[in-house]
Amino acid sequence: MNIVSNVKNYVCGLRQLVKFRSKKIFISKGTFLHPKVIIGKCTRINATSHIDQCTIGAFCAIGGRLVVRSSNHFHNFLNMQDWAQQFVLKSNIKVVGKSEGSVEIGNAVWIGDSVIILPDVEIGDGAVIGAGSVVTKSIPPFSIAVGNPAQVIKMRFPKEIIEIICQIRWWEWDLKTIQKRRELFEIDLNNSSPNDLLKIIDKYKMINKT
Ligand SMILES: CC(C)(COP(=O)(O)OP(=O)(O)OC[C@H]1O[C@@H](n2cnc3c(N)ncnc32)[C@H](O)[C@@H]1OP(=O)(O)O)[C@@H](O)C(=O)NCCC(=O)NCCS
Repeated sequence: MNIVSNVKNYVCGLRQLVKFRSKKIFISKGTFLHPKVIIGKCTRINATSHIDQCTIGAFCAIGGRLVVRSSNHFHNFLNMQDWAQQFVLKSNIKVVGKSEGSVEIGNAVWIGDSVIILPDVEIGDGAVIGAGSVVTKSIPPFSIAVGNPAQVIKMRFPKEIIEIICQIRWWEWDLKTIQKRRELFEIDLNNSSPNDLLKIIDKYKMINKT
């Protein structure tokens, strides 16, 4: 299993790598990963990507060539190239800046191949981002968004089903609990009623009724 990047400027520390292994996280070789990236358990990044500072939830399926950007070049100065600004012009004015907001990718998100996520964007839990999309604005939970700029084309499930999933937050369970409740992961939610789902949830007492 490849966990580490072989890119020279890869700066991920040993402690982070150990944590990745123990949380069953897979990151494709060659990926640039900012050292402050936070990734949830069982998330996989399948081919080389570039990931600036952001948070990525648990159980995300991420295709290849994902680019997450958390900074922009300031385009209101004559020169936009940061190295030249610092070392040729010897200017104290920076032309690259970290964005004020952060990129947050929720839990159980599927990101297709070759997606670019721009600064200040939140991708909700359970969302799908189509291959080749450029995400410029936040994407709601459990929606499917595609294109450049990415637009929501549909929701994955009916509203009532989404509400139930948001209540159980299965991605927060420990792996043994998830295994025990496998039945829940084997039903086709587009061909089931909210009651079908609730029956299984009641069986395993997944929602605390007060
Ligand atoms: C987003 C995706 C999941 C949508 O699948 P779907 O729910 O079956 O949707 P459809 O194929 O019915 O497409 C619905 C519409 O969106 C368009 N569309 C689908 N994916 C698109 C994409 N990635 N970019 C732009 N438009 C897209 C379709 O052309 C269609 O448009 P129309 O209504 O004008 O005909 C799928 O197209 C996709 O991008 N998958 C990613 C594949 C991939 O990268 N796999 C790597 C493994 S991690």
